[in-house]
Amino acid sequence: MAERGHWGSKLGFVLAAAGSAVGLGNIWKFPYITGENGGGAFVLVYLACIALVGLPVMIAEILLGRASQKSPVGAFRALGGGFWVVFGGLGVLGGFVILSYYSVVAGWAMHYTYLAISGRIVDLGPDGVVPLFGELFASNGLNLFWHTVFMALTIGVVWGGVNKGIERWARILMPVLGGLMLILLVNGLTLGGFGQALDFVFGFRTENLTAAGVLEALGHAFFTLSLGMGAMLTYGSYLSRDDDIVSSGITISVLDTAIALTACMVLFPIIFTYGMQPGEGPGLVFVSIPIALAQMPAGTFFAIVFFALLVFAALTSAISLLEVVTSYLIDEKGWLRHKATVWAGVIIALIGVPSALSGGTALFGDGFAAVFGRNWFDTFDYLATNWMLPLGGLGIALFTAWKVDDAIRRGEFQHGARLALFYRGWLLLLKFVVPVGIVLVFLHAIGVI
Ligand code: PFF
Repeated sequence: MAERGHWGSKLGFVLAAAGSAVGLGNIWKFPYITGENGGGAFVLVYLACIALVGLPVMIAEILLGRASQKSPVGAFRALGGGFWVVFGGLGVLGGFVILSYYSVVAGWAMHYTYLAISGRIVDLGPDGVVPLFGELFASNGLNLFWHTVFMALTIGVVWGGVNKGIERWARILMPVLGGLMLILLVNGLTLGGFGQALDFVFGFRTENLTAAGVLEALGHAFFTLSLGMGAMLTYGSYLSRDDDIVSSGITISVLDTAIALTACMVLFPIIFTYGMQPGEGPGLVFVSIPIALAQMPAGTFFAIVFFALLVFAALTSAISLLEVVTSYLIDEKGWLRHKATVWAGVIIALIGVPSALSGGTALFGDGFAAVFGRNWFDTFDYLATNWMLPLGGLGIALFTAWKVDDAIRRGEFQHGARLALFYRGWLLLLKFVVPVGIVLVFLHAIGVI
């Protein structure tokens, strides 16, 4: 069997893991769910979820990966075995489910990058761009085309392996992403709506916060940090013995949160300056923003920068989703990387076809929604984000805190960590706060409390 890949350096790991965390979740989803939930208080709940639930689980995942040097299923087996292995399997399943629809949204970002480069966004003007998203959403051909292109790109990167594929691309794309974000933030600062945006995102207003909003904040904390399905665990398994898990976990979480908040401060100033509503839902990035870009000075330039940024962010996340499935096939089935990558990628692309057709085909769109309440695409997103990831996170927290041998756990946590003192605090969070928090939110979601 081929030797297991390893990161070239700690920086390479942090960039790749931050690349996984920073994605459509930060730039497309977080701003629109913040908008739908009325800003302020929702952001505060989300930050609490990141600090009290997300960060401890992030450290646990990286730790399980590094300790076992295995992908999810093998890690649960090596460190405890028994029933717990189910959570590893759930993670692999999560890779299939999430990437299948994630790639469709990434495809929309690619289509808009193409529209921006061709100058169409500015040429069409504010009224002309409005129908573009509806047309794209309803077009089976365009959705299938871009979904296929994006999956091919993802397969291309993962094919190269840990070092020459994932790490290399993270090293290129992440700094570019940071630079593009900065350009857009500077632009936001010059707009009249900046103050209003600041107040919307950071002003504390509880009136729009609902219990469903709390479930969404928790689910999103897992989604945005790539937790609950073994992505961070898999990346952690490529770490060498002397890297510090705790500070890496903190760096990744802080970077991810900073990018999500910056995305709000890029988008909402534009929304308010051009007199639009923040609560428009998934269309925020694909409808409202193009309306504004179409009237902005240097609109084509900013449109290209923004949508390219979205594609890059999506790509570094998608590769981590594919890597979970690929590394499972390599570790557990003994497959070679190239075969594992292509098979996993093609099957996920096929599972994504109904998502790609959810806007243009009644069977997966309105017809599906009539029976299940949501179309296929939304059903996958809802199940994965609100149920699978928190459930996976619950399993990871309970396993790490109650099952894994303390000597192994303590040794891994403190090895090379300057923050060894936090061990007890971390363990308390994992033992009690994380599980109780997740279970309460679940119970509420099914109407028990
Ligand atoms: N964290 C990614 C985002 O915010 O877009 C999505 C994601 C990637 C979720 C990898 C889960 C995962 F394992």
